[in-house]
Amino acid sequence: SSDRSVEKEKTLAMIKPDGVSGNYTDGIKMAILESGFSILRESIVQLDEDKAVTFYAEHSSRTFFTSLIKYMTSGPVLVMVLEKENAVADWRALIGPTDARKAKITHPHSIRAMCGMDSDRNCVHGSDSAQSAQREMPFFFKEMSSGTGIV
Ligand code: PPS
Repeated sequence: SSDRSVEKEKTLAMIKPDGVSGNYTDGIKMAILESGFSILRESIVQLDEDKAVTFYAEHSSRTFFTSLIKYMTSGPVLVMVLEKENAVADWRALIGPTDARKAKITHPHSIRAMCGMDSDRNCVHGSDSAQSAQREMPFFFKEMSSGTGIV
């Protein structure tokens, strides 16, 4: 059922290589739908180094950057555009803290508690703000550039 009076928001969700290879995709998609999100787009993508470096450019000076890029290019990822009211914050809440070890203690029902390992192999990604979502969605889905009116 759609309610046009409710202002919906979109965010980019990604299941990282370990989530895809570990067969967590179906469980994660079920959690997404049960939490009231619509999945507007989905695509399986193999990131090359260029694409991963561009996507994570804001972290390029961090000590973990090289290992992050190696991990993110190690196998296919599943990217999705999710939509619901308050989608950005609600998806971040559903996935739990960046460090999956911490998630297992403080947010045991979160997605990262379920399928993540640590801060690096944390299974899923979510845009950290509406502004990031506006950059990240067209990065994978060109037709989603803001202002096209297509979505
Ligand atoms: S931080 O530490 O506050 O900047 O973390 P955050 O902004 O939430 O996410 C940083 C992204 O880099 C990935 N990554 C790591 N973060 C922290 N420590 C280590 N060692 C590390 N290695 C990789 C982390 O998974 C975040 O990726 P995304 O895809 O944004 O969740």
